[in-house]
Amino acid sequence: MSTIQLRTQIPGPKSKALSERRAKAVPRGLSHGTPIYVAKAEDAWLEDVDGNRYLDFAGGIGCLNVGHRREEVVDAVKGQLDHFLHTCVQVTPYESYVRLAERMNEVTPGNFAKKTIFVNSGAEAVENAVKIARAYTKRPGIIAFEDAFHGRTMMTLALTSKTHPYKAGFAPFPGEVYRVPYAYCYRCSYSKSYPLCDLYCARHLEDTFKKVVANEEVAAVIAEPVLGEGGFVTPPPDYFKVLVELCHKYGILFIADEVQSGFGRTGALFASERYGIEPDLLVTAKSLGGGLPLAGVTGRAEIMDAPGVGGLGGTFAGNPLSCVAALAVLDLFERENLLARANELGEHFQRRAREWQRRWGIIGDIRGLGGMQALELVKSHETKVPATEETKKISQFCYEHGLITITAGTYSNVIRVLVPLVITNEQMNEAMDVLESAIANVGEPKDAVAQLVQ
Ligand SMILES: Cc1ncc(COP(=O)(O)O)c(C=O)c1O
Repeated sequence: MSTIQLRTQIPGPKSKALSERRAKAVPRGLSHGTPIYVAKAEDAWLEDVDGNRYLDFAGGIGCLNVGHRREEVVDAVKGQLDHFLHTCVQVTPYESYVRLAERMNEVTPGNFAKKTIFVNSGAEAVENAVKIARAYTKRPGIIAFEDAFHGRTMMTLALTSKTHPYKAGFAPFPGEVYRVPYAYCYRCSYSKSYPLCDLYCARHLEDTFKKVVANEEVAAVIAEPVLGEGGFVTPPPDYFKVLVELCHKYGILFIADEVQSGFGRTGALFASERYGIEPDLLVTAKSLGGGLPLAGVTGRAEIMDAPGVGGLGGTFAGNPLSCVAALAVLDLFERENLLARANELGEHFQRRAREWQRRWGIIGDIRGLGGMQALELVKSHETKVPATEETKKISQFCYEHGLITITAGTYSNVIRVLVPLVITNEQMNEAMDVLESAIANVGEPKDAVAQLVQ
């Protein structure tokens, strides 16, 4: 039986009424992908207040790799509720925080002594990684990438690339942030192509030290191993090795922002493993908490210990409910084959998407690692003009037909897949059928596009 069940016109009357209340009570700056209000969610589906059921390709923006309301996570949180809710770890600490730090030190890449601190959000964790890197190196500069997204706080906005809607109107941002092009092969900033380019974009860092900022003034290079909001751009396999080697040549730390690419999404617990690198600092959040707010910075022990006593922390940082939830998430990854499942889902997606690419000129690039997959949509294969409006229409069609999707990319022309890894094959097929219909609804057949271009 189909998981998707639409009982009322979407949005239904209850969701509509809530949207009206929201418009009066909540600022417009907080956007919403769909105007439906959720009542219940399990595994890979959710139900709205009008009784409509959807498959969920968004997973709360990549926070639910182990599934909505995963039983083990819910049980762990219920168990904690009976003991204590909050004490502040800086006042009276608790074992779950320490245990989770120990486990993060074990499961992150690199066979060296590590330490971990927990905070509340991805942005807060990135802020802390920057503080730690500066305290250790005693240098101010941070190099970030075009198309990167690191959060919405002031420092992370400085690191984030996309201007609208994230940065415009919010300047000035903190200084000492320098930006270089990412390995976005589909739209290479240097008009080169891999592998003939010999990773020019990575090697170009040495030019940056001559032309933009002196290497001895750079504390860290921060990168997402696969871009999240930037459109799931997936660099070539040897890119990060070259980049990390260059960083270390100049005493610069490499920070991997694995907020979106972490916790099994790419078929390894961390995408850094897929690239064979061991970041000096690794930032996690989203699916770490299995649906509860939690983020962390894990790194080499001597680097993590650079800030003085009292230099790191936060009132709710690493709260006990989130810590026990994260321990349950790690148990699930140990016990279940979720990493293999991520790869299977990625292969399933790629297989269908390649077939669509043969049929429709709108499918420009299909890319990703494991279960972190996306489609970049273009006006035609030849021009690569971003199909921004069509992308919006596809996402809208999907939601109206029972599939929640979210878009991404500097040109807002990417459909990304962050589906909970517990989706069944039947549900995945159902979701891909909806996506296919959505593309058919806006995409010119390829022959027609070719004729237009001639
Ligand atoms: C790679 C990356 N870094 C940082 C963040 C910010 O995380 P948060 O929204 O939890 O602050 C995000 C959020 O999408 C992200 O994708």
